[in-house]
This record gives sequence, structure tokens and C-alpha cells, in this order.
Amino acid sequence: MNSLSKLKFLCVVPTFLSLGLLAPSCDNANSAPSQTTGNTVAKTAIAPRDTGLVQTAADTDAQKTGTATQSPNYPAADMADTTVQLKRAYRNYFPIGTAVDSKMVTDPRTASFIAKQYSSVTPVNDMKPVNIHPSENVYKWAPADKIVNFAVQNGLKVRGHCLVWFYRMPHWFFWDNGQLASKELLYSRLDSHINTVMSRYKGKVYAYDVLNETVAKTTETTQYSRIDTLYKIAGEDYIEHVFRTARKADPSAKLFYNDTFYDEAKRDKIYAFLKEMKAKGVPIDGVGIQCHIGIDGMSEELLSNSIDMFAKLGLEVQITELDVSIFNREAKAKTVANDSDDYTIDKEGKQSDIFNMVFKVCRQRKGVVTGITTWAPADINNYLTKRLGKRNYPNLFDNNLKPKPMLRKITDFKAGQ
Ligand code: XIL
Repeated sequence: MNSLSKLKFLCVVPTFLSLGLLAPSCDNANSAPSQTTGNTVAKTAIAPRDTGLVQTAADTDAQKTGTATQSPNYPAADMADTTVQLKRAYRNYFPIGTAVDSKMVTDPRTASFIAKQYSSVTPVNDMKPVNIHPSENVYKWAPADKIVNFAVQNGLKVRGHCLVWFYRMPHWFFWDNGQLASKELLYSRLDSHINTVMSRYKGKVYAYDVLNETVAKTTETTQYSRIDTLYKIAGEDYIEHVFRTARKADPSAKLFYNDTFYDEAKRDKIYAFLKEMKAKGVPIDGVGIQCHIGIDGMSEELLSNSIDMFAKLGLEVQITELDVSIFNREAKAKTVANDSDDYTIDKEGKQSDIFNMVFKVCRQRKGVVTGITTWAPADINNYLTKRLGKRNYPNLFDNNLKPKPMLRKITDFKAGQ
């Protein structure tokens, strides 16, 4: 890459990074103990990629002295088959999706890459309540519209993410002149939100994460719902309510409950919750398993047993937010502050084993599994870099939108396996 394109690259990438929104303060659900899998492959360290994402002091010094690894090409990309097309390899199995924002789908190079490799998109943030409905009488449609139009023009499916998620609800939903809103007022706001969003995208968004991360941590409470403001106002009744409202708003859309688990205890709680909802006739068609996996892996047994259990409830299953960090799943900015974020062949090999396990488990359950979505089209757009303050490479394609070597493994399977 010459210095002019390098400069352009460095200018474009930060715009991808600036799209996250401030979260209201509340806990997040993901704190189960991690499990370890994955074989180690060749131990040869390769030079860290220059991602243009996080410039460390060392990077900057090295660039000043001309010793930095300037190429954003991950050397291992040379070993990958650049002709692979992920969505074509899986055309007889299920759609392969990725999470996008409006900038990606309007940047010609990134947009054509996404349309070539993926058959489905999920707006990474642009349909979350706080983004699309920031105040009671204001809907901000433009970013989500761009994504949906891009998908329609290119024949891609769209998953709507998400209609209700406490963690990304604007505060106005819950308040009424300084007092907590009544249940009636909350429901009328939720109904209006769900009806308006689903009506706008009827026939274009085929599936919605109606509720995201509702089930409480196993240590928190014996009830299903986390104790958030939705719960404080409406009790657990809001869960049924939002699914029933969504079904009426667009009867043709598939309705998903989306969550995360990395151990059996949390999985069992989600299972019990879904079982009860199904028994009550709550309209839930599928369960989304997020799968933000660390390099310490996720157990194959846990994933495959869970899919089989959910299938017995009559639910379809999708992997909705797949990525594999180069740090352990429990990593926090503080704990990895002194760890290396170099991307080595060893790390790519471990990620490859994990991705391959997930794709294999899902292929074996074709029909029950109806989609896999990765949480960014390529490394340049990953949210882990921002979260941990370290460079990260959690996706299947590198910073230059080139397939990593693991793509060969994931796409080169014998049909039926
Ligand atoms: C993340 C986005 O990727 C970030 O850009 C944003 O700042 C925070 O949310 N579970 C979910 C996703 O359901 O919506 C989250 O996405 C990641 C965890």
C-alpha cells in the first residue's frame, strides 16, 4: 500500500469506530466462567498487522523511524484462497450474515465486498431503540433505511436487531414527568415503537430479535427477567406483551429471543424460560445464540446440546453475533492492558478451530439452524478493539477485506458434513 492509500485507510477507519452509542448504566449479562477448547497450530509469530485502528505508542515511534510494519495485509492472507465465497459455500445450508452500519453499505468497496461474501445483514446498532427512536416523537430512519435498501438492492436478507433491549433503550421510554411511567404508558410506548418499526420494514426485514438479553444472570435472581426498569414497571408480563405485539405488527416476520450463554447454568435458565413461553403460547419462532467467543473457546458439547434442546421446543436456532476475540472471553481492558495484541499464526489457528467448530455444528443441524451471522464483515469494523483498548482481529476477513486462511477450512467441507 502506498503512503497515499495508507493515509486514506487511516482516515476512513476511525469513522467506523465512532458509531457506538453511550450506554445507559446497567450491568451486562455475560459473566459466566469460560471453557477451553482449540488445538494449537504452528507457533511461528508473524509481524503484527498495521491495522490503522489503534495506534500504540510503539507503532507511532516505529512509523516515525520507518521501522513499522506498514502493510495492512496480514501476511497469512497470502496463504488464503481469495476466490472463496462464504455465502456460496453455504447456499444449501443457511444464510451467512454479518453486522453492518450505514457507512459500510454506502462505501462502494466495502459494500461490494459485503454483497459478495454474505447473504444477510444485521444493523449492528442502527435499529436499536436508542438509535432509531431517540425521543418520543423522533425516529431516526436514515441509517437503518440505507442498510435495508442496500440489502434489497443486492438480494440480501435483513435481521432486525433489536426491538427491545433494556441496555439500549432511551430513558424517555420509562419516565413520565420525573416519575416512573405507569405500565399502561410503558406498553403504549413499546407498542407504538414496535408497530412503527415493523410496519416500515414489512416484507424487507424477515426476522427480528424482539427481545435481547432479558434472562438474568444465574447468580442474580430466580426469576427469568433481569431486574431492570422494564421489569420494575411491568413485572415479567412485558416479555409476553412485546412478542404478541410484534406478531400482530408483522405476522410474516420471524420472532427471535436473542441471548448469550457460555455455560450450562445460563443455558438451562434460558431453556426453562423459552419452554415456559412456548407452553403459554407466546409467539417465539426462534432463539438467537450470540456467540461472542474468546480465544479460550466454547465447548462443542455445550453448543450442540443447546441447539438440540432448543430444537425440541420447536424453535429454530441462529448464531447471531459470532466473533472470536484474540483475548479470553472474560478479558477486560484492565486485565489485558499489558498483554500483546500481536496477531500471530498461533492465534489465527486457535480462532480457526473455534470458527470451524461452530460452522460444523450448525451444518450438522441444517434445517434447525437457519443462519449464522458474524458480528462484523471484517476486522476493520470490530467493536472489541474499542472495548478492550487493544487491537483485535475477531473476524473471518482481515483489515484489507481479504479472507484469512481459516476461510478455506470453513468453506471446504464435504457436502452433508
Ligand atoms: C454492540 C455493538 O457492536 C457496539 O458497536 C455497541 O457499541 C454496543 O453493542 N450483544 C448484542 C449487540 O446484542 O447488540 C452488541 O453490539 C454486542 C453484545
